Amino acid sequence: MIKKSFKILVLGVFAAVCIFIGFTNASASKKIPFGEQLFLKNKCNKCHTIKALGIKKLPSKENQMLQNLGPLAGLVKKKKGIKPPDLSGVGKVRSAKWINDWLAHKIRLHGKHHKKKLDISARLRWILAKWVSTLKYKTNVNYKK
Ligand code: HEC
Repeated sequence: MIKKSFKILVLGVFAAVCIFIGFTNASASKKIPFGEQLFLKNKCNKCHTIKALGIKKLPSKENQMLQNLGPLAGLVKKKKGIKPPDLSGVGKVRSAKWINDWLAHKIRLHGKHHKKKLDISARLRWILAKWVSTLKYKTNVNYKK
């Protein structure tokens, strides 16, 4: 008799622990930092990936078109200019202030302003810039070229 109720107790505790872990995991995965939300909302991933966080490029009409062309895609002229880098490690090189100024078109890189015209308040831009500056993952991108 004792054995049976002990088994039930053990099972009960096990179930409770499972449910608890399930809950904490679910709430943890929902907590996307506000800066990251701004990144996604402003479609920075139209051009940039953040591989370290699994953020991929949004499917663009242009990419879709090239895909539909299949082997003919090679005949279409490639876009000139500097490609948008993966941002996984950009915070190792750029400060929040630099990124904020870059996003605000106050500074240039390779003689040009940022391609993206970012239409948000200075406060939100700063939150976004600060979040981008926390991206210090390992990467082989050479940002300060
Ligand atoms: C239309 C495409 C496009 C979009 C959208 C875009 N970027 Fe960029 N971004 C670029 C390109 C191209 C470069 C590289 C410029 C260069 O090196 O001269 C760049 C560079 C950067 C850099 C500097 C990287 C370095 O080399 O130091 C940061 C930081 C950055 N972008 C952040 C963002 C953020 C944040 C957003 C969203 C608000 C965004 N970008 C949206 C095209 C884009």
